[in-house]
Parts: sequence; structure tokens; C-alpha cells
Amino acid sequence: MKILVTRRWPEAAEARLGQLGDVTLNEDDLPLSSDALESALDEYDVICPTVTDRLDGRILGSHPRKARLLANFGVGVNHIDLEAARAIGIAITNTPGVLTDATAEIALTLMLMSARRTAEGERLVRSGKWDGWRPTHMLSVQVTGKTLGIVGMGRIGTALARKARHGLGMRIAYCNRTRVPESVAVELGAERLELVDLLRRSDFVSLNCPATAETRHLIDETALSSMMPHSHIINTARGDVIDEQALAGALEARHIAGAGLDVYEEEPNVHPGLLKLDNVVLLPHMGSGTVETRIAMGMRAVDNVEAFVNDRALPDEV
Ligand code: DGY
Repeated sequence: MKILVTRRWPEAAEARLGQLGDVTLNEDDLPLSSDALESALDEYDVICPTVTDRLDGRILGSHPRKARLLANFGVGVNHIDLEAARAIGIAITNTPGVLTDATAEIALTLMLMSARRTAEGERLVRSGKWDGWRPTHMLSVQVTGKTLGIVGMGRIGTALARKARHGLGMRIAYCNRTRVPESVAVELGAERLELVDLLRRSDFVSLNCPATAETRHLIDETALSSMMPHSHIINTARGDVIDEQALAGALEARHIAGAGLDVYEEEPNVHPGLLKLDNVVLLPHMGSGTVETRIAMGMRAVDNVEAFVNDRALPDEV
């Protein structure tokens, strides 16, 4: 069984994978070109890609390939054309459940950083221009007790709601295709709203929905204009859920107060209109980036490869 890992993984996960077949690792950890990905489909039985590998319909093609499994390292699979892969008999698996808390922590971090202007404050101290404490210096807004509107109340949205409710006493609103179970709604005091009402009423909006054709540019100029001028928007989902051009415009014109982003439409490129603004916090897609979580993600991907190698049902087929 020939297995390709497209980026470096935590050592323990690479070592375990190594016992399952003839494994090729990516020693220099540079992203594969689309040509390399295309030929890998004819050379390997299993490919373990991640978010930096765009496996679109053109690369996958329409004729059967040697590859039979794409065991993705990560929960989001919007970089893979799922229909095209399935049409040529390639199964896809992901790593759900293991990155929930890590990603919710980064959403919480971004919310606090954006509200409390901590990135700006840090830049000021490092610049050597801080001239000392005064009562009106760098005022920000309090988060405790405010309303958090969560778009996408899956595992990560719910974990964020718990941390915000129980840690910061926030009121929780959410927008989701389905209602959360009654016990969760009661525990969190969570109110389900239509997107436009959630945007109108939330002091903080957090995007935690998957990237699909339906959620592409869900937050566009019109959606942003529904938000309050003191509100902040946080995105730890996928970049293209927000129209970055519209977001840069809304932040620059102060139609909304701030934003915290961990993901971008064209990673690793960030819209130049965002880079020049002080009222947006920019992180390098590090939501799941704790040691514990990255090992767990690797192990989860290996579980799927192991099931495939042993001809068992795939635990996390998408
Ligand atoms: C995920 O698991 O989706 C992370 O964003 C990395 O791809």
C-alpha cells in the first residue's frame, strides 16, 4: 500500500502511519504543486492531504486513478471537490471532534483581542512609543455580559457558546439549519435567530459554519450593513464565508467596530485592505494549532487509513 503525506505531521502520527505501508513523507514541508498532486493520484493508493492542497475537479479528473482514499488531516474539506472524487471512486475522510476546543479557544481569543484592542496595544508597547497610563488611553469595550451571535452551531460553535456563556456570562444567539437539543438551549440560554436578526442584535458575531456553496460570501456588504457600528465579527471557519473586500470596506468606514480573523479567502495571502487597518486582528490559521490537537488530528487521520488498509468501514467518511 503506497501512502503519501503531503505536509509534515506530528512525529507520533507519522511513526504510526509508517507501520501501515510504504509511506512517503514531505521532508521539506513545502506545499505540493498542482502537477505533483495530479501525478500523486496515479502513484499512491492513499493520499493524506490537508487544507493547503487544492484537489479540484481539474486535478481529480474524470477517469479512475490509482488513489482510492483521501485521508484529510483536518475537519474542513472545502479544498477537495467531493463530488468529483466520489465520481471516480475515491473516498474522503476527515478528522472531526478532535479540534473542537482548540478552535473554540482561538475564536474566544480573537473576540477578546478585537474587543480589548490587545494586538494594537502590543504593537504600541513594542514600538517604544507608549508614554504611560492615563484614564482615556486606548479605551476598548467590555465583553462580559454582551451578546454573542454564533453562525453555525455545530461542535465548535457549541463549545464556543459554552466558554462564552459560562466564562464571560454572555447571552447566546445562534443561527443554524437545525435547533440545538433542548437541554443545550436551556443550559446556554441560547436563542435561535434568522441570520439577519442575529446580525442586527449581536455585539459579537462568530462564524463557525462549514464552507460550502451556500455559505460562500454569506457575510457580504449587505450582511455587514445589518450589524451594529459597535459590533465585531470573528471568523475561524473558512475565509470565503466572508467577502474580504466588503469586510475591509466596512471596517475602514467604521460601519462595524472590529474583526478577528484566523482564515482568509486566498491563504496565505491576506487582502491588502485588511493589512493596513488597525481594527482587525489577523492570525495565521492557527485555530487547531495546539500540540495536543495536532497529534489527535494525525492519529484520527491514521485511524481512517488503518481502517482502509484493513478493509474495514471508514470511521470518518464524509
Ligand atoms: C481544519 O481542520 O479544518 C483546520 O482548519 C485545518 O484545515
